[in-house]
Amino acid sequence: MATNRTFTMIKPDAVENNYIGGILKMINEAGFRIVAMKYTKLSAEAAGTFYEVHKERPFYGELVSYMSSGPIVAAILEKENAVADFRTLIGATDPTKADEGTIRKTYAKSIAANAVHGSDSDENAQIEGDFYFSKLERY
Ligand code: CMP
Repeated sequence: MATNRTFTMIKPDAVENNYIGGILKMINEAGFRIVAMKYTKLSAEAAGTFYEVHKERPFYGELVSYMSSGPIVAAILEKENAVADFRTLIGATDPTKADEGTIRKTYAKSIAANAVHGSDSDENAQIEGDFYFSKLERY
């Protein structure tokens, strides 16, 4: 069942470059409501668990060490058709292929340091949100 919720992380590159405010502004202006939010840092172990679905990919090691290299902002976002609309807002994984006006086109540096994560399905949005937030931390 569609939950109308998605999960995002503002990644270490975007945090380091002071893009948190700009990215949140784009998210709010696109009509997403913030259900939960946390400024935190993943251990390598936690990043490995979060990205376990990519374990067999050649970039898994790089991804895990990158995502645990600095603080991130994790959030659950709500909007009708949240998963698909958020993927449209962030643009293609590779920022050189992202459309103009998307978050990754505006703020991302590379395919690994691509500014934001967005869930790829309702099921993963639920799993990823549960990874970070208890029921009491959602409003
Ligand atoms: P994300 O949406 O967080 O989900 C998986 C991440 O893996 C993706 O964003 C990219 O940052 C990263 N990724 C995907 N393909 C590559 C690649 N070829 N090299 C390095 N990182 C990648």
